[in-house]
Amino acid sequence: MGRPRLTKLYLRDYRSYSELLFEPASGVNFLLGPNAAGKTNLLEAINYLSTLRSPRTSRDGDLVRWGSGSFYIKGQLETGGPGSARTLEVGYRSGRGRALRIDGVPVRRTREFLGSINTVFFSPDDLRLIKGGPEERRSFLDAEIGQVDGRYRSALDTYSRVLTQRNDVLKQMRGRRTSLASADLLLEPWDGQLVEAGSRIVAGRLQHLNPWLAFAAETYGELAGGSEELSGEYLSGFMPPYPLGSSPGRSDSVDREGIADAYAKAVAESRDEEMHRGYTLVGPHRDDCRFTISGHEARTYGSQGQQRSVALAIKIAEVRWMRDVTRREPILLLDDVISELDGDRARRLAALLDGGSQTMITSTDLDPAIAAHPSPTRWRVSGGEVIRDGTLAPG
Ligand SMILES: Nc1ncnc2c1ncn2[C@@H]1O[C@H](COP(=O)(O)OP(=O)(O)OP(=O)(O)O)[C@@H](O)[C@H]1O
Ligand SMILES: [Mg+2]
Repeated sequence: MGRPRLTKLYLRDYRSYSELLFEPASGVNFLLGPNAAGKTNLLEAINYLSTLRSPRTSRDGDLVRWGSGSFYIKGQLETGGPGSARTLEVGYRSGRGRALRIDGVPVRRTREFLGSINTVFFSPDDLRLIKGGPEERRSFLDAEIGQVDGRYRSALDTYSRVLTQRNDVLKQMRGRRTSLASADLLLEPWDGQLVEAGSRIVAGRLQHLNPWLAFAAETYGELAGGSEELSGEYLSGFMPPYPLGSSPGRSDSVDREGIADAYAKAVAESRDEEMHRGYTLVGPHRDDCRFTISGHEARTYGSQGQQRSVALAIKIAEVRWMRDVTRREPILLLDDVISELDGDRARRLAALLDGGSQTMITSTDLDPAIAAHPSPTRWRVSGGEVIRDGTLAPG
């Protein structure tokens, strides 16, 4: 099992940082600092090094420090074993775009760069996972599963291309009196590819969500103190609701052919309706997940704190799931979580964090749960600096 850990992070002109060298410890790092100190910016930079995307913006230009024309991030990783250090560099220049290097060697393809470190980022915004629409849950799943599964990524690419082309054909039929026979002729080449790529996506989601949700249910029990039970279902337009996480071992038994058959049947059955509406009505681009707490849907019935706990459990479980799939330990980035939880849940969270993955957790105050944590590594974030804080006595 690989244990990559970030030993050095160097930032130049990234967000609020003109220049920063941060040398996080292995284990749990608490980053404390007032509002606007740059805590989220720091986690965002680490996340960017791993995914080449910011959870807060889709425009790289936003990451450039105001008044500057470029940003630069360099991370040094220790992957365990002698000679296992690795250097990742990302440079971005306004108007010129991005340049990537691994160990000093330029990397042209984004894909080669991704996967050197995996991160799991939790922020209060992740409440969207519960409260938001299906679209947000799908894009979350696609990004996270795509982070670890190259075949899933390529199925997504194919599917989105086929979907666009198929929708173009359907749009042209709309309002015209196309006969079913000629519609079949025009659509069949796309149908086959749609079902092929689409069933790979659905099978991939079920295969990954099964163990992931099993872990999330366990984690939720530990966070909430065992009195509540989290469960999840995958909702597809062409299959009955699929219970997730009931047994982690079931991941091998996802029936890809059965999924493809059900999907193909639904595509054939929606022909009329699709010609009328002018777009593709069934498939993974319309699917969703539902989470329930002790049988009641979290989205409609969960309290604010319960919803946050579900989102948090899903993220913490993501670490275990990712570790199993990639055989590598991801870095856990927790932004502002403690302030969202009551004292009991905060303490249980702190206790959950000793699992061995390198963790960065931000907070504005030295919360009692943080103070009680055995981890010695605390950092003060302020004035564009991150300084190791030895002066905080526990308790
Ligand atoms: N591109 C940028 N250039 C310069 N400064 C920026 C840029 N983008 C954001 N900032 C500034 O960075 C500051 C710190 O932001 P950050 O979100 O990291 O704070 P924080 O420590 O997480 O605060 P909070 O506790 O409120 O969440 C903000 O005041 C923001 O104005
Ligand atoms: Mg913040």
